[in-house]
Amino acid sequence: MSKSTLPGAFRLDGARALVTGASRGIGRACALALAEAGCDLVLSARTGAALREAAEEAEGHGVRAVALAADLADPGAPSALVERAAAALGGIDVLLHNAGVLPTAADGSPVLVPFQHSTQQDWEHVIAVNLNATAEICRAAHPHLAASDRASLILMSSASGVMGTPLLDAYAATKAGQISLARSLGVGWAREGIRVNAVCPGWITTDMTSFASGTEPFSQWLMAHVPQGRWGTPEDVAGAVLFLASPASALVTAQALVLDGGLSTPDGGLGAIPKPPSPFAA
Ligand SMILES: NC(=O)c1ccc[n+]([C@@H]2O[C@H](COP(=O)([O-])OP(=O)(O)OC[C@H]3O[C@@H](n4cnc5c(N)ncnc54)[C@H](OP(=O)(O)O)[C@@H]3O)[C@@H](O)[C@H]2O)c1
Repeated sequence: MSKSTLPGAFRLDGARALVTGASRGIGRACALALAEAGCDLVLSARTGAALREAAEEAEGHGVRAVALAADLADPGAPSALVERAAAALGGIDVLLHNAGVLPTAADGSPVLVPFQHSTQQDWEHVIAVNLNATAEICRAAHPHLAASDRASLILMSSASGVMGTPLLDAYAATKAGQISLARSLGVGWAREGIRVNAVCPGWITTDMTSFASGTEPFSQWLMAHVPQGRWGTPEDVAGAVLFLASPASALVTAQALVLDGGLSTPDGGLGAIPKPPSPFAA
């Protein structure tokens, strides 16, 4: 899409945006959408090579894109990243905090266990990346966003934060926490001109969900619970993020925007449709 095809209210020419978790998946698609809308960008994640590739692709839209590596699990790293991003861009107007993790085993696979069998260590790692880093980023970003005349802070939550998700209890708790924080900050910072919203995707095909999207009958069983009956794509999420970042959503704050194909609607209107047996059944 060329720049001129975006309706004006969705354009962000000259805005300065920080995107975390921008090396792949949802964050990368969102960063590219923001670049296409005219934002200069700082892209962040741990993996420098993937980040630089994403930054190069963003620059193809004629904007500036800077890659800054950071591990947000390290206390102090989130606020240091915000300061480095503000220095690199000369301020911050849009902050998409998207980096997030599932509880992960040593071999990289997700830990999917009933809560009573999960460990406190799993809980603490997920809380550190998904919730503690969120708090630190929001606090550090406040003065920069308050100095902007088009400030939008977007937290990448999840439909699991709206519904809860057994076997991913810690993850769901952090995502509910992000929704609550977006609502509190959206109200608390409204008179300073800072909009704060959460985005709550359902099942989206990325590295994070490849354990499910690439496995049958698991994938089919999951999609049987989604009224639209399909996996979402990172680009599906990028459209919503662009809306919340741009003047098109000028009156939207303290909201949780759910993009889940109807998954979190009670029974999704699919009550009468037979579903395959659960792969978790004994
Ligand atoms: N996929 C879904 O179905 C889905 C649904 C709802 C919500 N979400 C949320 O959407 C966000 C992105 O998910 P995704 O599916 O795109 O996941 P993904 O493909 O695993 O990407 C995660 C991103 O976060 C970065 N990251 C992970 N740990 C980090 C850390 N400690 N410090 C800094 N960066 C870190 C990763 O880069 P490095 O590994 O290079 O650091 C990567 O860029 C997450 O917050 C997730 O909870 C995803």
